[in-house]
Amino acid sequence: MANDEILIHDFDPDLICDYFGRLERQGPGSPESTVRALSFIDDLSNELKIADIACGTGGQTMVLAQNTRGTITGVDICPDFIEKFNVNAQKFGFRDRVKGVVGSMDNLPFQNEELDVIWSEGAIANIGFEKGLNYLKRFLKKGGYIALTYESWFTDERPAEIEKFWVSAVPEMSTIAHNISTIQKAGYSLVAAFTLPEKCWTDTFFIPQKAIQKAFLEKNAGSKAAVTFVEYMKYEAELYSKYKQYYGYVFYIGKKI
Ligand SMILES: C[S@@+](CC[C@H](N)C(=O)[O-])C[C@H]1O[C@@H](n2cnc3c(N)ncnc32)[C@H](O)[C@@H]1O
Repeated sequence: MANDEILIHDFDPDLICDYFGRLERQGPGSPESTVRALSFIDDLSNELKIADIACGTGGQTMVLAQNTRGTITGVDICPDFIEKFNVNAQKFGFRDRVKGVVGSMDNLPFQNEELDVIWSEGAIANIGFEKGLNYLKRFLKKGGYIALTYESWFTDERPAEIEKFWVSAVPEMSTIAHNISTIQKAGYSLVAAFTLPEKCWTDTFFIPQKAIQKAFLEKNAGSKAAVTFVEYMKYEAELYSKYKQYYGYVFYIGKKI
């Protein structure tokens, strides 16, 4: 990439929403991984009250809805994503029990101990892993579950190029062992942790992006920021293919003590 000093946080949120709103998912993941994480939750036959935090357009939320009973509230800061989320909920036939609302994940519209399950794929870094775990816990009933995917290092050391890219985006990024200890210190017992397979990055994240980049650039013709953003996303994909043995997303499932 021409300018590797640019950070994801430097881009206009509207531009980011325009780009990712064209995709089924806004981060790495897959229906299989969502279902696998759900399989660690004990009481799936009950009517559960679930929140999907930073739900995007609801790719994973609809999978949750297909495999659970009860209600799901999706919360995301991007109004365009929530509009698409609610269209998806209607399309999948879940309008009566799945609802998206615009909101920030550090100021959630839930009561203390209201929720059975808090789900959040690819987004906890927006408020910080440790801070997010501590903040979200209040909304869970005792014995309630939290299920998160989070960027994690697979080794204690890694090449400078990949360290620099990810520490700029996620300053707190750490190893799986450290993240598990953070979960436990925040007052959860660890139920499971598993690494997302490579295809969660390639098949459902990087490859679909290739198909939308041309239309995104055409709509934003003349925008230098749009060109730089596409370069940034291509650079992220290149780095993944070069350094995937050093990092990835890990699904962490914890239970509030
Ligand atoms: C990597 S995407 C993941 C989206 C979705 N969970 C998925 O896996 O496809 C991160 C999401 O976090 C949302 N987001 C960023 N900051 C947020 C905040 N402060 N509050 C709520 N949502 C936020 C973005 O709009 C985006 O939808």
